[in-house]
Amino acid sequence: MCGIIGYVGNEECAPILLEGLRRLEYRGYDSAGVAVHDGTQLNVRRAAGKLTALGDSLARSPVHGTTGIGHTRWATHGKPAERNAHPHVSGDIAVVHNGIIENHVELKHALRAKGREFLSDTDTEIVAHLVDIETTAGATLFEAVRATLKQLRGAYAIAVISKRDAHTLVLAKNASPLVLGVGDGVMLAASDVPALLAHSRDVIFLEDGELAEITREGARIETLAGAKVERAPVRITWSLMQAERGGYKHFMLKEIHEQPRAIEDTLRGRVSWEDASLEPAEMGISAADVAGIRRVVFLACGTSFHAALHGRYLLEGLARVPAVAELASEFRYRDPVIGAGDLVVAVSQSGETADTLAAAKEAKERGARILAVVNVQGSAIARMAHGTLYTHAGPEIGVASTKCFTAQLAALTMLAIHLGRCRDTLSADRAGALLREFVQIPNKMRTVLETAKHVETVARSILHTRDALFLGRGLSSAVALEGALKLKEISYVHAEGYAGGEMKHGPLALVDRDMPVVCLLPTDSTLEKMLSNVQEVRARDGNVIAVVDDETVAKDLATHTLRIPPTLEPFTPLLSIVPLQLLSYYVADLRGTDVDQPRNLAKTVTVE
Ligand code: M6R
Repeated sequence: MCGIIGYVGNEECAPILLEGLRRLEYRGYDSAGVAVHDGTQLNVRRAAGKLTALGDSLARSPVHGTTGIGHTRWATHGKPAERNAHPHVSGDIAVVHNGIIENHVELKHALRAKGREFLSDTDTEIVAHLVDIETTAGATLFEAVRATLKQLRGAYAIAVISKRDAHTLVLAKNASPLVLGVGDGVMLAASDVPALLAHSRDVIFLEDGELAEITREGARIETLAGAKVERAPVRITWSLMQAERGGYKHFMLKEIHEQPRAIEDTLRGRVSWEDASLEPAEMGISAADVAGIRRVVFLACGTSFHAALHGRYLLEGLARVPAVAELASEFRYRDPVIGAGDLVVAVSQSGETADTLAAAKEAKERGARILAVVNVQGSAIARMAHGTLYTHAGPEIGVASTKCFTAQLAALTMLAIHLGRCRDTLSADRAGALLREFVQIPNKMRTVLETAKHVETVARSILHTRDALFLGRGLSSAVALEGALKLKEISYVHAEGYAGGEMKHGPLALVDRDMPVVCLLPTDSTLEKMLSNVQEVRARDGNVIAVVDDETVAKDLATHTLRIPPTLEPFTPLLSIVPLQLLSYYVADLRGTDVDQPRNLAKTVTVE
C-alpha cells in the first residue's frame, strides 16, 4: 500500500502535493517524493523516512511549478531507501505507483536486454522505462501509458508526468484505488479522498482497467481497450476525519473491511490467478532450504502467535514436517534445543517486537535458519532473517491486529503448500485443488463482511457480559484464541479461548446461562467432536453463539449463528475469524471504549 497524488492547476503545487501526501501517510511512510514541472523541466525530490524528511528537503531546495505528482511509500519491492522512493524516472518520464507489478522480473530482463539500466530495486521503475520507450517512439503520453499497461500484470494505480508536457498528467488504475478531484480550473488525482478535500469535494472514482488524462480543463477517461467513459462526479459530504478512515468510524473497522484486498495482495505474484499455481521465487524459501529442514519452529507473540499455531497445524498436515509454535517471550528463557536443521519462522506484523526479535536472534546464533513472515519492509526481524516472506497487508493503524492476522494466515498457508510440494508430501492434484480454492477466499470474505449488521445485533445481545468463552478444535482452536484476544483487548470483557476438548478439564465449571460461548462449527474433520463439546455447554444452559457454514448444524443448539461460506478446511480460519473480529469491534464500540487505541497497549511492543 502506498499513497499517490497528482495536481494540475494554477497554484504552486509542491505544498499542495505535500499536504495531500500528509493525508495519505497512513498508507505508507517509509519514503516519499515529488516530481514537479516548472514549465521547462521536471524537478524530482525524494527522501527516505517520514514525510517530514521530504518537507525538509523541499524547504532547503524548493521546486516550482503548477503540475506535479507525489508519492508516499510502503515498501514492497526494495527496502526503504531514497533510491527506491518514487517518483522513478526514465528519460523524460516520471512515474509514481501503488501496487505490485507481478511480471516485473521478466519485463526487467527484457528491458535490460534492450540496454536499459535500473537505478532502483523496485518493480515501478520498469513502468517509467516502458512509457519512455513509447513516447520516444512518438506516442502521446496517453497512448504510451495505454501501450505500457497492456504489458503489465498485477495491481497498480499510477500517475505519470512527462517533461514534454507541462500541463498534463496521465493516470491509470487496476486493483489499487485512484480517485480524481474536479475543481475550478484545477484537476487532482489521489489514492484516497482525504488528499483531495482541501481542493475539491467533487470526485470521480476510476474503475479497474481505466486510464485518464487530466488537464486544467478536465478529465478524459477511457478503458484500456479504447472505449470512452463518461462519469459524472459525485459530491463528498464526509468530514476530513471521516474521510481519513474511508468513512468508517474506526481504523479497526476499516482494516477489517480491507481484508479481502490484503489477502489478494499477499497472494499476488506468488499464486497465479490464471492457473492457480505457486510461483515459489517470491516465497523467500528455496528448494535447497527445504531439503535441509528437520523441524520447523514458529516464534511469535500475541495475534502473530495465533497465526503461528495455524502454520504449525498446516505444515504438519500438508508438508509432514515436525512443527512447533512457541511464544517468543518464553522461548529464550528455557535454554531451547535448537540449531542446524531447524527452520525458525518468526511471525510478526511490525517486525520489531522485541521478544520475537530476541528469540529469533538466539535461534540464529545457535545455527537455525531464520525465515521472517513480517508486514513491515526492512524491519528489524526482516533484516536479521536469512529470508523474508512479506505479508502485503499495508500499514495497520488499529492496535488490534486484524488484516495482518489474516494476511499471516494466507502467507503461512502458501508456505505449507510450497513445502508440501517441495517435499512431495502433497500431490500436484491436491495442491491444485487447494490453490483453486485459495484464490476464491477474498470474495468469500467479502460475503462474510456483508453480514456485519447481523453481527452487530448479536454483539448487542452480549453487550453487558463480564466474561466470554471461545471454543474451537483443530485449525479452529487458533481462531478461538484469536477471537478471545480480540474481544478482551478492545472491549475489556474477560474472554478465554479454548480447544473444545479442554472444556471438560476445567472451564466447563464457568458455564451458566450468563456465559456467552462462541463455538466454531465449520464442516470439517473436527465437527462431530465439537458438537459433543457444544452439547456439554448447552446442558449447562450456556448461551451458544455458533460460527457455521451450514445453518442446520447448530439448530436447537445456538442462540445466534454467524454464517460463513463453505470452504476447504485449511482456509476455514480465514473466514471464521472475520465475524469474531466484527463481534469484538461492535461490543467494544457499543461499550464506548477507545477501539483503535485500547488502554495499556501499544501497536509495536519494543520492550521485552
Ligand atoms: O508486531 P507483532 O505481530 O510482532 O506484534 C505481536 C503482538 O504484540 C500483537 O499481535 C498484539 O497481540 C496485537 N495487539 C493483537 O491484536
